[in-house]
Amino acid sequence: MLNAILILLSYLLGSISFSFIIGKTVKGIDIREYGSGNAGATNTLRVLGKGPAVLVLALDIVKGIAAVWAARALAPDLIWVHVLCGIAVIIGHNWPVFFGFRGGKGIATTIGVMATLSLLPALCAGIIALVLVALTRFVSLGSLVFTALLPVFLVLWGKPEEIIYTSLLVCAFAFYRHRTNIVKLLQGKENKLGASRK
Ligand code: G3P
Repeated sequence: MLNAILILLSYLLGSISFSFIIGKTVKGIDIREYGSGNAGATNTLRVLGKGPAVLVLALDIVKGIAAVWAARALAPDLIWVHVLCGIAVIIGHNWPVFFGFRGGKGIATTIGVMATLSLLPALCAGIIALVLVALTRFVSLGSLVFTALLPVFLVLWGKPEEIIYTSLLVCAFAFYRHRTNIVKLLQGKENKLGASRK
């Protein structure tokens, strides 16, 4: 029963859309009606600027950390509860019950979840993704490469299969949520970091 409650609470935590709340607080806007329409840090940067974007990024990462951390604290030996809480907080972020199921693409929350489940593989994937973003200015490309590399590094590190399967699922979520970004990348129409929106 406690485990089911933890998973449900993780989903509800994920459903707190910080980009929406900060958009409303700072400028009185629904972030989902501007820029790319995504409720996430990249679109917050595009629409509201650096300060709000850094805040959204940090809070979305902390959401992921908090869900896995709480599961670990309350069900220390149950790795399946840790990973299900991680998956639930990402699902909440992407499809938030409090905001009409229209949320973000889940990358910041995935960073928090995967870094808490397995720090070094997530760090390696994150560093490569950051270098790629710095070189190309495509945040979406970095996001996709980050999630695609997670299972690779987890396997190389010999991590538990529960975490490897979780990484495959969050990778699938990321590719599904970035499907319009993928089309734009292939067409050469994707927005670059710092450029005006196409
Ligand atoms: O994590 C979201 C990012 O990869 C893409 O965001 O707003 O450019 O679609 P956006």
